[in-house]
Amino acid sequence: MALIDDLKWRYATKKMNGQKVPQEKVDYILEAARLAPSSSGLQPYQIFVITNPTLLEKIKEVAFNQSQITDGSHLLVWAAWDGYTPQKISDTFALITEERGLPANAMDDYKSMLWGNYEPRGTEWHKNHAARQAYISFGMAIAAAAEQKVDATPMEGFDPAKLDEILGLRELGLHSVVILPLGYRAAEGDWLVNMKKVRRPASHFITELA
Ligand SMILES: Cc1cc2nc3c(=O)[nH]c(=O)nc-3n(C[C@H](O)[C@H](O)[C@H](O)COP(=O)(O)O)c2cc1C
Repeated sequence: MALIDDLKWRYATKKMNGQKVPQEKVDYILEAARLAPSSSGLQPYQIFVITNPTLLEKIKEVAFNQSQITDGSHLLVWAAWDGYTPQKISDTFALITEERGLPANAMDDYKSMLWGNYEPRGTEWHKNHAARQAYISFGMAIAAAAEQKVDATPMEGFDPAKLDEILGLRELGLHSVVILPLGYRAAEGDWLVNMKKVRRPASHFITELA
């Protein structure tokens, strides 16, 4: 039940108190994000960890002035690949074969199959598919933060093009997908803190086909 209790404890914190999250907790959350599964193991995204106050101020301005960005301790930004390429696929499988002690060509057929599947789908599909993988990691980070009793606010409320510009993501072939300020809830001034968590009942959410 521990995970369920942690998920009930967490909420999309609206006001943070400026307290620093210890580095080992941030590292734990990032490790959970890194261990997330992804389609074919490609991990088509990176995480930027931002603590620089000037950068955080700039980011807040393109994120509807959401105060958690500057009152939190660390801002995590998931930045997904703009697209897949044979090189990127090869790099992933070079790592996998090396780490598993397999012959370098062990995954060649799979690589060809994968690129044959991805290439015709076009760049927009690539971009969206990479972003969907990033969300899985994002979810893991949210759960890990809750386990560490670190508050976090999942956020899509920002201008991605402007954030990409601030972080220089375009030059890196990346685009921002979603962001997560980490920190601690403020003692006062958070309208959501004592509100009941509301979810659709399981009967309206789960369909069993036995
Ligand atoms: C992808 C995503 C984007 C969100 N964007 C924002 C946001 O920009 N600002 C904010 O305050 N909350 C944001 N939320 C929080 C949701 O409103 C919140 O998770 C939802 O209402 C459920 O409430 P709970 O997280 O407190 O359980 C976002 C949540 C998700 C998952």
